[in-house]
Amino acid sequence: MGRFYITTPIYYVNDAPHVGHAYCTVNADAMARWHRLVGDDTKFLTGTDEHGQKVADAAAKNGVSIQEWTDQTSRRFREAWDTLGISNDDFIRTTEPRHYESVQKFLMAIYENGYIYKDVYQGLYCISCEDYFTLESSDDGKCPIHGRLLTEMEEENWFFRLSAFEDRLLEYYDAHPGFVTPETKRNEAYSFVKGGLRDISITRTSISWGVPVPWDEQHVFYVWYDALINYLTAIGYGRDDDEVGEWWPWSHHLIGKEIIRFHCVWWPAMCMAAGLEPPSHVQVHGWLLVGGQKLSKTMAAEGAVRLSDISPVVLTNEFGVDPIRYYLLRDTSLGNDGEFSLEGITHRYNTDLANNLGNLVARVTTVVNSKCAGKGPAPRTDSPLRVEAELVIHETAAAWNRFAPQSALEATWRLIGSTNAFLEQNAPWKMEPGRDVDDVLGDALEAIRLVTVLATPAMPGVCEEIWRRIGLGGSPIDEIFERSAVWGRYPGGRDVEKGDPLFPRIKSGA
Ligand code: ME8
Ligand code: MG
Repeated sequence: MGRFYITTPIYYVNDAPHVGHAYCTVNADAMARWHRLVGDDTKFLTGTDEHGQKVADAAAKNGVSIQEWTDQTSRRFREAWDTLGISNDDFIRTTEPRHYESVQKFLMAIYENGYIYKDVYQGLYCISCEDYFTLESSDDGKCPIHGRLLTEMEEENWFFRLSAFEDRLLEYYDAHPGFVTPETKRNEAYSFVKGGLRDISITRTSISWGVPVPWDEQHVFYVWYDALINYLTAIGYGRDDDEVGEWWPWSHHLIGKEIIRFHCVWWPAMCMAAGLEPPSHVQVHGWLLVGGQKLSKTMAAEGAVRLSDISPVVLTNEFGVDPIRYYLLRDTSLGNDGEFSLEGITHRYNTDLANNLGNLVARVTTVVNSKCAGKGPAPRTDSPLRVEAELVIHETAAAWNRFAPQSALEATWRLIGSTNAFLEQNAPWKMEPGRDVDDVLGDALEAIRLVTVLATPAMPGVCEEIWRRIGLGGSPIDEIFERSAVWGRYPGGRDVEKGDPLFPRIKSGA
């Protein structure tokens, strides 16, 4: 059994979560659930990023203290994740004392190793990005991402000698081909380093909302510089070295593509400077788009999309937890962008869930009740479905293992399709009760059992319900994958229940 430590970015609490945040969190959740299923010791971390100008401004705009604002907005993230069935083991807030302690110790280590110095900084700042631009990298003095006018900043700041790490980063990339995936994003980060690195300003005197610099009390750390360290805070950095050793070599950061530079350049360099190995893997994902643009709260403010249509809580109430999770995992492959829409959700729901999975379970449970007195027969060892099932098990597992939930589900749904075709071919509903019906339905029940094991990381609630309906006690996660994902384990003789439709069809345009 291995270990698996997965993180999401910690989200800014300038505003409530939207479905873009849910996209990342659900993918991380499914990955964590997959690794628990195969028996790995798993830790799943998410949380909120509570420092920086953007958060301070949001509090001021809403007329509450920064602490009150962060408390209330951070809670909204936790509530959204509860609604979506997110199984995080920890939720970190960067305003917690444990984080201050880890940040100060981590940066003190970098300072003592000689990679921090004082200088005057001049630059153009974008508050939305919490990042600096040069005139050349800006869009005529405007932020290339947010389009807003950049602010001139001149401050005496502490700097991190990022430039000292160019060669070591390139060596690290060469020695660890899987450090950043997918490959295209790895190449992007690599070229960025190759293009030459400048030192970065890591402290501020203009605001006091941040982690104090331990060797200079006039300064607080720049928000990104404390935020990245959250991944170490949560595993006890500076408090419990053994815990760090237990998790850090198995760390996986799932991040959106706009924060590659921070995670794939700054962060590994910071770790090196502090005398630590870089994280083991960064998996980059693309954006959910609306009309080709990155979905965001700003977009809603401008009227391009309705706020309720991008609220994870509203969407979940409307479509159900598992359908939303399924849509987010299945519709876009991790690494690419994907267009988000209510029509898209409805389409996935009606085809993959109602017509394929829901229909399969409904048919089989109904016919078991009409032809087998409600007792599920056992599958055949030499079932015609067996070869396909074994291939699907193999492909689904391989896809989950390479951070490809979309391909995993695609593979699993092939078994659903084959089983539906197998039922149509044999039409057990037309047969007389007896051995032949039992054979067909036993095989179909076994295929359903396997599908629930394979799909449980994506749709834990529905899979548990199907498990129950086919008469199995407990839940598909009770046994480790290696033992349960084997053809022929459905015991037979169990009471099979024909319940309400799992996914009542949605009328388009609803
Ligand atoms: O960047 N599509 O926080 P943030 C897909 N605090 N994913 C999206 C998305 C979209 N349209 N919009 C947001 C920050 N995301 C920093 C991170 S980490 C040490 C600090 C997701 O609130 C995506 O995962 O801007 C992205 O990377 C993250 O939200 C950024 O959230
Ligand atoms: Mg952002």
